[in-house]
Amino acid sequence: MDASRLWQFPIKEFHRMPRGILGPGAYEMVGVEAKNLGFKRALLATSGLRGTGIIEDIIGKIKYQGVDVVLYDQIESNPKDYNVMDMADMYTKEKCDSFISVGGGSVTDATKGARIVVANDGRHINEFDGFNKSERPDNPPHIAINTTAGTGSETSWAYVITDTTSDKAPYKYLAFDETCPVTLGINDPVLFFSMPQDLTAYCGFDVLAHASEPYVSRLNFLPSLGNALKCIELVAQNLRETVCEPLNYEARYNMMYASYMAAQSFNSGGLGIIHAMSHAVSAYYDSHHGLNNAIALPRVWEFNMPANYKRFRDIARVMGENVDGLSDVSAAERALEAAIKLSKDVGIPKNFSSVGDYTKTRIGRGTYEKWSGPKIVGDEKDADRITRHLLGDGSTPGNAREATYEAVKPVVQHALTGSYS
Ligand SMILES: [Fe+2]
Repeated sequence: MDASRLWQFPIKEFHRMPRGILGPGAYEMVGVEAKNLGFKRALLATSGLRGTGIIEDIIGKIKYQGVDVVLYDQIESNPKDYNVMDMADMYTKEKCDSFISVGGGSVTDATKGARIVVANDGRHINEFDGFNKSERPDNPPHIAINTTAGTGSETSWAYVITDTTSDKAPYKYLAFDETCPVTLGINDPVLFFSMPQDLTAYCGFDVLAHASEPYVSRLNFLPSLGNALKCIELVAQNLRETVCEPLNYEARYNMMYASYMAAQSFNSGGLGIIHAMSHAVSAYYDSHHGLNNAIALPRVWEFNMPANYKRFRDIARVMGENVDGLSDVSAAERALEAAIKLSKDVGIPKNFSSVGDYTKTRIGRGTYEKWSGPKIVGDEKDADRITRHLLGDGSTPGNAREATYEAVKPVVQHALTGSYS
């Protein structure tokens, strides 16, 4: 008898999460933490924070403790394979012994990838697409200072890289590796104040995706469920404030915890086709991960609801909807309404083909010739290639509802050109 056919996911696995420090002033401890971890010469990885003063401030704190710093500040949104390889090359040439990353998920992910490359004799990062492809257990140490309430990469075993060189390119893959969790994750809400309003909204929807996907996933990983539901509640209660009042400390603080806890939920609880669709659109258009999630989320919730109305009822309740006396089906529909209302309130575009310029727009500005753009077209070719890319994504097996080409393509088409208004 093949017992694996009796259950969809008969054996679950709890993936490790790293040490973290969280709270106002936490980032100021980076120098002391680096020294205590034995860092002598750290590669400091970052992207678009130049000019905010944050990088200069952090470098000063590290050097004050006697740790040398080598700066790599070229990491792009949707981190590219060439970012990872350049960073690994610099690390080796400069004889560094550690990494410190300062930024959102792109920066943390690229640095996780560079550590795997360094630990595996400089092999190309795209060779590690998949689950636990790394062959060396000891990556260089890594302190990750997070600056967005979004990916939570500073506490997960996942990293996402855009392949621009293999036969599959352009291709954005989600890799998981037990060797890649950071040594220490630092979350300081003070650093989130500088996030522009549009990116705050997009990253907030990334958090909502990280929490809702494991909550309804077929993995049904019980330790993830409590965190996930709490995160959905935190997003519903705080995202509007962080967008409308960027200096609202309490809202930023709550979104910081939502981001952190949501990543811990999906770390072992799985994701779904919100993320798979998001990765596909980024692969072809280099558009923002959180923005893509925000557009995909209500469509995927609607698609997934018949697989588990009761879980969506729970989601509606923690989003503030009164579901007393409603059937599970009617209550679940309130969750969808709440998500659509939230997306409108924080300025999410109604579909992919209506996305215009936003802060750090990558559309059409990448250096890679195969990216389409500047505008997301949304035609039959897009619907087909995005659906195919989606079906091969590492997030898809955990989706609440079985994803087939025929079933998912209309969902993708609605996200490309449809509307809820
Ligand atoms: Fe995400």
